[in-house]
Amino acid sequence: MENEVPLIKVTIDGQEIRVPVGSTIMEAARQIGPSVAPPAMCYYKPLQGSGGKCRACLVKVMAGSEKDPRPMPKLVASCITGAQDGMVVENFTNPEVVEARKGVVEFLLINHPLDCPVCDQAGECHLQDFAFENGVGEKRFVEEKRTFEPEDIGDKVQLHMNRCILCYRCVYTANQLTEKRVHGVMGRGDHAQISTYIKNSLESDFYGNVIDVCPVGALTDKTYRFKSRVWFSKPVDAHCDCDKCSGKVQIWYKGDEVIRVTARKNQWGEVEDFICNTCRFEKKKTSDWVIEGPSKIARNSVIAQNKYGLNQGKKPEYALNYAATNFKKIDDSREYNQNLDQIKKSEDYKALMQKNDKFFSKEKSLK
Ligand code: SF4
Ligand code: FES
Repeated sequence: MENEVPLIKVTIDGQEIRVPVGSTIMEAARQIGPSVAPPAMCYYKPLQGSGGKCRACLVKVMAGSEKDPRPMPKLVASCITGAQDGMVVENFTNPEVVEARKGVVEFLLINHPLDCPVCDQAGECHLQDFAFENGVGEKRFVEEKRTFEPEDIGDKVQLHMNRCILCYRCVYTANQLTEKRVHGVMGRGDHAQISTYIKNSLESDFYGNVIDVCPVGALTDKTYRFKSRVWFSKPVDAHCDCDKCSGKVQIWYKGDEVIRVTARKNQWGEVEDFICNTCRFEKKKTSDWVIEGPSKIARNSVIAQNKYGLNQGKKPEYALNYAATNFKKIDDSREYNQNLDQIKKSEDYKALMQKNDKFFSKEKSLK
């Protein structure tokens, strides 16, 4: 056909895919699936111009193209690097990439506070997932984290600047969805921060979407804050007849109470249809909505725990593989020893205590 876009062949982590000319490496990887798709902290497909800020998506290009099969000398950001015909890319299979990603996690956590126990985003925070899947358990940064004075940016959205990772997603959201953006990144370097110009508050029918696009707990819903941990609530797909937006939402129940309304997200955690503030903040009754049924939640998400029978029976494959390759088989034939004095005298116990002492004295020296 005349207008058909030509396809190019790309190989990522040994899997081949044909994608339209002009696709990025990230787009090609996402077409193959989550097993090869690089993580993303700033890229957000529905937002034009997003990407290229966080380096979470670095990959190694082993062969640039069919015509020029030389490898690229440095790791590249897959969300903004175009795929070429015959390109060979390594992501999770490349040790250099795995190592670099540990560095990116460490870098993001230099200033991001570890206040997950009191953060509303815990359980659906992309940085939590990113650090858990790619980071290391230890920190080397001993200096004080960057902190900001609390700032009121309006009655519906809470800004907690200390948690911001400067991904710019909220800025692009406001640029794209509202007529008059009043917030943005002010200052440079260590002083860069999300703020509103001369303390304007966020006011527009679609501003609430900055909450959904924020990968961390820097922008949260004031009408929902501290109402529940996300894993205690039940997400349900629902819709309404709205004249401003598609009206397709997820409503989150705690018991019979609707505690929040959000836009629906796809498997990459990206909003499919942005919703208006009326749907998000004003419609908090079941009677405002036509209920479609329980939302589909990824099996490995904490939100899915003990809900809708999703986790019953089968364990996630990666956990089984990990256990099979990393842990010794448990020897159940050992006798069960309940004698505490005897346990305390054993060599195993002494070795464990020594290890603990070493760990805690190291922790102390870092404080
Ligand atoms: S407030 Fe959230 S969405 Fe906005 S730049 Fe910071 S981390 Fe990104
Ligand atoms: S996701 Fe590619 S640089 Fe942030």
